[in-house]
Amino acid sequence: MQIVVKNISKDYGKKKNAVHAIKDISLEVEHGEFLGIMGPSGAGKTTLLNMLSTNERPDHGQIIIDDIDITQLHDREQTKFRRNKMGFIYQSFELLDSLNVKENVILPLALSRSHKKLIEERFNYMMNLLNIEKLSQRNVDELSLGQRQIVAAARALINSPEILFADEPTGSLDSKSATILLNYMQLVNQREKTTIVMATHDAFTASYCQRVVFIKDGLIFSEVVNPGNRDKFFEQIINMQRTIGGGNYFNVSQDY
Ligand SMILES: Nc1ncnc2c1ncn2[C@@H]1O[C@H](COP(=O)(O)OP(=O)(O)O)[C@@H](O)[C@H]1O
Ligand SMILES: [Mg+2]
Repeated sequence: MQIVVKNISKDYGKKKNAVHAIKDISLEVEHGEFLGIMGPSGAGKTTLLNMLSTNERPDHGQIIIDDIDITQLHDREQTKFRRNKMGFIYQSFELLDSLNVKENVILPLALSRSHKKLIEERFNYMMNLLNIEKLSQRNVDELSLGQRQIVAAARALINSPEILFADEPTGSLDSKSATILLNYMQLVNQREKTTIVMATHDAFTASYCQRVVFIKDGLIFSEVVNPGNRDKFFEQIINMQRTIGGGNYFNVSQDY
């Protein structure tokens, strides 16, 4: 799906305590694009993602997804739109420890009362795609962090969302698990033409995107387009982080 953002803004708090989390942001995400949102902590990445995903409303501006201005939808319509079209991966995976892997993964389909047969088909397809069939009957609390995040990705993708939102999806992962997850996200982006918008402060994670938009203090600062070479793109991202300042790129080079 194509996302067109026009002059959105968002404040938190009132009067002299007001925080201008997003001041004025306009951008376009193409259908099937894998877009990164970067910027130092507090830049407004999560706020931006929450507005694109209808979890929060902007104070001003429009967000048009395939010709529908989602800011104009009523709460109930937004919920329906979100359930039918969107998937989410967060830093804290938010899996339910009382359920096993399969029960967690199929949850979005169970909630939308899908047919048993469809649920089984989609479940088998996702587990196969992400190569985690053997985890099906495991309890979630027995899994490694990396496994948990990939299970969370399977859950986010099971209802074939047209847009996948990811907020710091590698934030809790070691570099090996992060690499596996990012490769899967790329695979899904290519295979299913899922549009992906991913917020991260980590240059290695961002280097998997096709394009990265940098925000600072609630405004767009710049963007960098992947030249078709991930190592080169990584360098460009690091350089841009240096230009912006306030990023923690020193940790990044140690981790990866
Ligand atoms: N619910 C909230 N209430 C008050 N301030 C908030 C809230 N959410 C975010 N903020 C503030 O908005 C700014 C942007 O935050 P956020 O979008 O979380 O940044 P990022 O994800 O880039 O770290 C920060 O100054 C943050 O403190
Ligand atoms: Mg954030």
